[in-house]
Amino acid sequence: MRMRAAVLEEFGQPLVVQEVDLAEPKAGEVLVRLEACGVCHTDMYTASGADPSGYAPCVLGHEGGGIVEKVGDDVTSLTPGDKVVTMFSPQCRECVHCVDPRTNLCMAIRAEQNLGHLPDGTTRLSRNGEDIRHFMGTSTFAEYTVMPEIALARINPEAPLDHACLFACGLSTGLGAAMYTAKVDEGTTCVVFGAGMVGLGAVAGCRLQGAERIICVDLSDDRLELAKGQGATEVYKADENTVQWILDETGGYGADYTFEATGLVSVMQQAVESARMAWGLCTVAGVAGKGETLDVIPRWLIQGRRIAGSSFGGVKGRDQVPELVDRYMAGEIDVDPFLSHRISLDEVNKGFDLMEAHDGIRSVIEFN
Ligand SMILES: NC(=O)c1ccc[n+]([C@@H]2O[C@H](COP(=O)([O-])OP(=O)(O)OC[C@H]3O[C@@H](n4cnc5c(N)ncnc54)[C@H](O)[C@@H]3O)[C@@H](O)[C@H]2O)c1
Ligand SMILES: [Zn+2]
Ligand SMILES: [Zn+2]
Repeated sequence: MRMRAAVLEEFGQPLVVQEVDLAEPKAGEVLVRLEACGVCHTDMYTASGADPSGYAPCVLGHEGGGIVEKVGDDVTSLTPGDKVVTMFSPQCRECVHCVDPRTNLCMAIRAEQNLGHLPDGTTRLSRNGEDIRHFMGTSTFAEYTVMPEIALARINPEAPLDHACLFACGLSTGLGAAMYTAKVDEGTTCVVFGAGMVGLGAVAGCRLQGAERIICVDLSDDRLELAKGQGATEVYKADENTVQWILDETGGYGADYTFEATGLVSVMQQAVESARMAWGLCTVAGVAGKGETLDVIPRWLIQGRRIAGSSFGGVKGRDQVPELVDRYMAGEIDVDPFLSHRISLDEVNKGFDLMEAHDGIRSVIEFN
């Protein structure tokens, strides 16, 4: 079929919205008609050329929400009409990691996904016979996408997709960091560094887990206001005294749980230093620049602090994204404040501009 898509033609250049070809879903694959898609930093990072593993031409986008149009052979868990959220982090339910409750790092299609291919090593996207690669296995800056069944989460049919699509990446990453990676305990003290989509999700996750104190740290007053709306009990405008302030606020010990959601290694270090001696757990969700390292004084660890990393919040997507969407539908997660701008596919580059200007949390592309 022919459809419109935003193609990354050349790194560092605006995406070009154009007609491309999309082939039928093969075995184990599903054709999805996109209704909404968030614009995330990872899209912009790849478009800029800063990501050394990036490739072009490809169709970017990974925060999609849509409707199943057609299923290929052997697809058993989805049928046309199902409402789905796309996942760059699949869940095959069979691999060594999927059957283990300790991780969400599904191994089923990793290698081909990293190459921009569907699991059989080919692409469904093309233009005049030339292959176009699939970004993160999702390629949702497009009217339609063909994706593996194992990378689609079927959600509540009542959930509005302009909101639900945000569970495809940043929001679930933050929520999950608190709920599934750190498993925050009731009555505890938490500190979240960064109040973007991920950090705000972590604040909400700490609240859902029943934390007593949730301190959010950011440079922006506007974002700290949003953090209060998600359940932060205290906010702090980041400065050179951030760690000392947290220690002073916690009887000199530090917080039970800290979360880093900035992607800055200097802030990761602060998050480690602000974790409580004896049992404090620092969860790192931010993605640092290539080659950057995190300096940790071993004594911090010997004193009982622990550090965990979290990819997609440890969320097992097909099982747990629907649960998170249900909690949103039940009124437990306030998604509205994250949806800052609604744009069309043709305005996708404006989405990047807004992000660069730190204007709002998320721009969502709506397809009509
Ligand atoms: N682990 C994953 O699976 C995953 C998924 C999505 C995003 N991410 C990463 O998470 C990070 C956050 O993503 P986002 O979309 O929320 O980004 P964002 O840019 O919207 O938010 C980052 C926030 O950090 C704040 N900040 C900057 N310097 C700070 C400092 N010194 N102290 C405190 N706050 C500071 C900024 O003001 C901003 O509000 C990024 O690195 C992103 O790549 C990881
Ligand atoms: Zn993302
Ligand atoms: Zn798996």
